[in-house]
Amino acid sequence: MARKDLIAGNWKMHADHLEAIQMVQKLGYRLDPADYDRVEVVVCPPLTALRSVQTVIEADYLPIKLGAQNVHWEDQGAFTGEVSPPMLAKLNVSYVIVGHSERREMFGDDDAVVARKLRAVLGAGMTPIVCVGESLDQREAGVTEEVIGGQLHAALDGLDAATVAGLVIAYEPIWAIGTGRTADADTAAAACGYLREQVRGTWGEAADEARVLYGGSVNPGNVAGLMAKRDIDGGLVGGASLDPDKMAALVRYWV
Ligand code: 13P
Repeated sequence: MARKDLIAGNWKMHADHLEAIQMVQKLGYRLDPADYDRVEVVVCPPLTALRSVQTVIEADYLPIKLGAQNVHWEDQGAFTGEVSPPMLAKLNVSYVIVGHSERREMFGDDDAVVARKLRAVLGAGMTPIVCVGESLDQREAGVTEEVIGGQLHAALDGLDAATVAGLVIAYEPIWAIGTGRTADADTAAAACGYLREQVRGTWGEAADEARVLYGGSVNPGNVAGLMAKRDIDGGLVGGASLDPDKMAALVRYWV
């Protein structure tokens, strides 16, 4: 089964809700129906902008999907400051990023937390974008596959094949995030291919359907080379996704 390419913009902690409205409107002006036919387009604004961006998307009938950057694993309760999966689902959020290295490194999202969040996202009917990636030290020590394979299995083990087939996995080497130092297409494809083979080893043909994205300094200049790789089904984009012109160029990488 053909996998549809996916370009997701992770806006991180950028854009208040008014700026976010402008960003998604501008992106909408720049894309045509043919773009959406070819590529699934996702934006992940900060929490305070989710409702506003949802409203623009729905009012303007934009085929842009909404994503969230984080979530708690419980449906409700005394968890000051947290937001639950059903709350996101109620905003027509389709995707939720789990396991981003920034959350693993700065906010204590360890493998167990990532696994819980992933299951909670699935339970609320949304699709997790599960991120894995090695640090520079780990790459230089030659343990990249061990690290990303370990993170993948910690997050996914116990799920059934049909569920895994619907997942989005993002390979994001930490040394390439926000550094301008992209993994070259061969390096990125090798890691994405390794992740796909790990999926195949446990869940068989689910590996042909699950999408594997690359993330880390993706920009309009390097996107085509990355997307040409069979095992790379799209990008999870930080900095470049904040500029609607660049985000549109990423989506239209083949034009
Ligand atoms: P940059 O594209 O800014 O390197 O960020 C990548 C990323 O972390 C996306 O989640």
